[in-house]
Amino acid sequence: MSPFLLTRTLPEDATDADLRADVLHGLTRTPKVLPPKWFYDARGSELFEEITRLPEYYPTRAEREILIARAPEIAAATRARTLVELGSGSSEKTRHLLDALPALESYVPVDVSESALTAAAASLLDERPALSVHALIADFTRGLALPGTPGPRLVAFLGGTIGNLLPDERAVFLKSVRSLLAPGDALLMGTDLVKDEATLVAAYDDARGVTAAFNKNVLSVIDRELGADFDPDDFEHVAVWDRQHEWIEMRLRARTALTVKIPELDIAVSFESGEEIRTEVSAKFRQDGVRRELGGAGLDLREWWTDGAGRFALSLAVAV
Ligand SMILES: C[S@@+](CC[C@H](N)C(=O)[O-])C[C@H]1O[C@@H](n2cnc3c(N)ncnc32)[C@H](O)[C@@H]1O
Repeated sequence: MSPFLLTRTLPEDATDADLRADVLHGLTRTPKVLPPKWFYDARGSELFEEITRLPEYYPTRAEREILIARAPEIAAATRARTLVELGSGSSEKTRHLLDALPALESYVPVDVSESALTAAAASLLDERPALSVHALIADFTRGLALPGTPGPRLVAFLGGTIGNLLPDERAVFLKSVRSLLAPGDALLMGTDLVKDEATLVAAYDDARGVTAAFNKNVLSVIDRELGADFDPDDFEHVAVWDRQHEWIEMRLRARTALTVKIPELDIAVSFESGEEIRTEVSAKFRQDGVRRELGGAGLDLREWWTDGAGRFALSLAVAV
């Protein structure tokens, strides 16, 4: 196995401080919320990979179909020498892109999950020893400092992860992505599309209960990191389609009235029976909205590709 560079752009204790702040803020307000990035410890990252293989979870298969079909066009349009991938996870689908970019010298996967990053970087280097891989443990919502790799630069943001940000967060995020690019550099972004409610809800509430386990994993993270006494079985996994905002919400609903102690924060959090924590928003998109949001950040939508069934889109936008 060849070595790869692994850089932590956050101080060692930043994750801990961020988790404390998010849990304190999120569980002492009404309605209660937790940001989705805390799903992804080693077990959460494994559960997400399992979700991508579920029959109900079409986005991964649909995005892969588009990547395979369009990779040559992406290569010709971008001539990328550096591929930066935000929220790269296992980098599974990225392999189709890596294989298609003839000028590629550097790959910079960025993720909060150290376990996912190191596993992905190690196996990529086994397969492609000539590729320079510089993995970054970083929060992509916090402003990134990228290594000085050669341009043109292509930033990939796959998996529909953009939908986990709220609209005002997306505007800030897209501007920060634009600031990483020189004019002519590109952003390749995957967005799940608005569709019928039954298909959407099933994708977030599968028959085998893998998504339920993924959702409840955030409680185990808080138990382990902050000494809390959440029992995940006290909560029910809920996925609902919000027609007005055109997003799926994942929630955890207390089965009974209960109180959870979080000693590291010196608080006790009470739940009424049926009270919910919102753990994830997953926005679904339409082409006009994506074009408008990209344009607002100085990114010009040049290509819009969907899978054959029209469920998912990949957009290629250029920094102007
Ligand atoms: C929905 S998964 C998508 C994974 C992969 N890109 C795919 O398409 O299958 C989201 C990924 O983003 C990472 N992630 C979530 N929030 C993040 C943040 N704020 N900063 C960096 N990575 C984040 C997670 O650890 C996870 O690997």
